[in-house]
Amino acid sequence: MNDDVVLLVDDEKSILNSIERLFDETGLRILKAANADEAMEFVRKENISVLVSDNLMPGMKGIDLLSKVRVISPDIVRILMTAYADLTTAVDAINKGEVFRFIVKPWDDDDLIETIKEGIKRYQIVRTLKRADEATLLSLARTIELKDKYTRGHCDRVAGYALLMADELNLPEETKRDIRYGSWLHDCGKIGIPESILNKNGPLDEEEFEVIKKHPLWGADVARQAQLSEVIINIILHHHERYDGKGYPFGIKGTDIPIEARIVAVADCFDAITTDRSYRKAASGGKGLEIILSMKERNFAPEIVELFISGLKSISCSKDTQCIKDNLNEHGDN
Ligand SMILES: [Fe+2]
Ligand SMILES: [Fe+2]
Repeated sequence: MNDDVVLLVDDEKSILNSIERLFDETGLRILKAANADEAMEFVRKENISVLVSDNLMPGMKGIDLLSKVRVISPDIVRILMTAYADLTTAVDAINKGEVFRFIVKPWDDDDLIETIKEGIKRYQIVRTLKRADEATLLSLARTIELKDKYTRGHCDRVAGYALLMADELNLPEETKRDIRYGSWLHDCGKIGIPESILNKNGPLDEEEFEVIKKHPLWGADVARQAQLSEVIINIILHHHERYDGKGYPFGIKGTDIPIEARIVAVADCFDAITTDRSYRKAASGGKGLEIILSMKERNFAPEIVELFISGLKSISCSKDTQCIKDNLNEHGDN
């Protein structure tokens, strides 16, 4: 994290200083600007990872500064600080993708540190994705997995299952490669979800679930920014859509859901069922398949479920399927 630069913008010097002090021990480089003009000066000269701006300042408002920065330097992760009374502006900005997060004043130190650290992680993810070589993508996907201790190995196995179906369809190599990458990255939007929600023991309340439901949008946003292919973006964006239209984020249905996303949805769910989760034990491969079959037409495209069944039957000893076989053997019958 040591090369990262955080730019703080606030017209109150005392605020800039007290935030700077929070990062004393971290080795992060902190820059401070008293207004939008000074901030723009830094944006032009320095490589900034995260920009935190107050909203109400004399001259240009924080929200307008962030929109401007978005245009000239889109990789900089933008965080808005706002008074409680100004909350609608902040929520609006989030929904429009103008800012990554907002912080309500007076802030909680731990929240602020956590939010800025997440911002830096997001900056690094986009940077890494832009390089987009296979080894970097996989190690990134594994880093994301570490956030959720129950999903270790998940992205590898999802890719394995998805490629079984892609093979059955005889898709071109390039598409298969993108399906592999999309499977690895399908949950990369989880970087935006607080750990307290992700690792909660027990059911989520409605508000928490609303946050979870944002991860496809956040993830697709990251992938788009890194200029990844349409196939990869579709997988990230639509892996929670349902065949009957009751999924999220858009509720599109049937063949309106891109085929790569229909494939990964089955792979993702099958792996979730056949591995231990915080709230339940793993089902066997056979039981998992039974559950997938029972969700046909509601959750999953019937033709894709058929492909999955024939794909599973034809598992050979290739590298892609080893992790799948290991998991299925561990959990009994298939
Ligand atoms: Fe997901
Ligand atoms: Fe998943």
